[in-house]
Amino acid sequence: MADETLTIRDNRTGTEIEVPIVDGTIHATDLRQLGLTSYDPAFLNTASCRSAITYIDGDAGILRYRGYPIEQVAEHATFLETAWLLLEGELPTKEQLAAWEDEVRTHTYVHTNVTTFLDGFRHDAHPMGMLLGAVGALSTFYPDAKNIGDAESRRLQKVRLIAKFPTIAAWVFRHTRGLPYVFPRNDLDYIGNFVNMTFEIGGRHEPNPVLQRALEILLILHADHEQNASTNAVRGVGSTHVDPFSAVSAGVAALYGPLHGGANEAVLLMLDEIGTKDRVPEFIESVKAGHGRLMGFGHRVYKSYDPRAKLIKRVADDVFAETGLNPKLEIALELEKIALEDEYFVSRKLYPNVDFYSGLIYQAMGYPTDYFTVLFALGRLPGWVSQWDEMLGDPEQKIARPRQIYTGYDERDFVPLEQRG
Ligand code: CMC
Repeated sequence: MADETLTIRDNRTGTEIEVPIVDGTIHATDLRQLGLTSYDPAFLNTASCRSAITYIDGDAGILRYRGYPIEQVAEHATFLETAWLLLEGELPTKEQLAAWEDEVRTHTYVHTNVTTFLDGFRHDAHPMGMLLGAVGALSTFYPDAKNIGDAESRRLQKVRLIAKFPTIAAWVFRHTRGLPYVFPRNDLDYIGNFVNMTFEIGGRHEPNPVLQRALEILLILHADHEQNASTNAVRGVGSTHVDPFSAVSAGVAALYGPLHGGANEAVLLMLDEIGTKDRVPEFIESVKAGHGRLMGFGHRVYKSYDPRAKLIKRVADDVFAETGLNPKLEIALELEKIALEDEYFVSRKLYPNVDFYSGLIYQAMGYPTDYFTVLFALGRLPGWVSQWDEMLGDPEQKIARPRQIYTGYDERDFVPLEQRG
């Protein structure tokens, strides 16, 4: 028996059980001794796994990757360095980083047939819909990815995903613009190559180092966030032992939703709807009256200012110094000011989250609103693959298959069609 235990008495029968408390948690399966099941449909107080990747203290506004504070990672690391840290658990040495960058570079090309089915999408198809289809389809190009029991194969698929995702994401962008696809340039770094594949016209693109570093920091800030909805989707689907391309496409689908990654797009649509600063109080009142939500506000885990949002505000200053102010910033600042003082938001601990300012920055960089969530997906990818791999190595992890509380009919006899009224 563990040092700390919880005694549970079932007052229906008088039975008492003592269950271990480990890491501040009791095991739901211990309740079986009483014939009980635990009910938590939105995982409000349920740990779905043990994980050593990302730590969050939502009350204190702390986020760490493998123990390193997000502020330090965002200041010092590159995106691929961050990806290595999440995947491998340690910061890479110079040699490891160089080898990793080189390996990723050699896998950036995607089978040209992918362009054929991207061409099949309508010109106005949503970029996230295209992305989730194209990433899932990669599984058909790499049937060896089914071999999830083999560590070397798993490693290869992780490299392929991280290397090819920017190519597909950029091609999705090109499709929405009706522009020819630009192939990867392996003389460029990860971010430079992605930006070039999206924006190059006629063989030319003048890179802006300030904007590229800003994009890199945004991707780093999104790289992992423990058991968020999309990571939970990747883990849940991956627990069936499907290939990682299919599991990651489930993550993309989950991220698409406006309560998750789609919130960055929804924030911009909301700012458009508000239109001018003087209409902010009226909008806040309508939210409080139950007409919609203040998008980019609130978080399941953070009950204080999202540390990523703080960092993003600083990135915004650098970006707007280059591009000029995004006119919608004024409305966003006013929304934040009023909401942070309003009893409704204060009492519910609703603060700006990562999506509140990121869209304004992406827009200033030249990305269309419906493309913002693709950038979130590109950032979150290292987290998804790290969590997928960790899940497969966890001896406690079986197929994720929840129970239910049945609320339907008791048994009843089938009524043949001719006897129904
Ligand atoms: N605007 C207005 N009211 C809100 C908001 C909001 N953005 N978020 C939560 N509330 C209210 C909600 O109505 C509820 O009030 P009451 O107790 O009176 O019923 C209370 O706050 C608690 O809300 P909840 O829905 O139980 O909280 P949750 O932890 O299930 O939801 C959330 C978290 C992020 C889905 C939610 O805050 C939300 O919908 N925010 C807007 C969408 C958004 O910005 N999503 C991005 C999240 S961060 C990055 C990411 O995950 O992609």
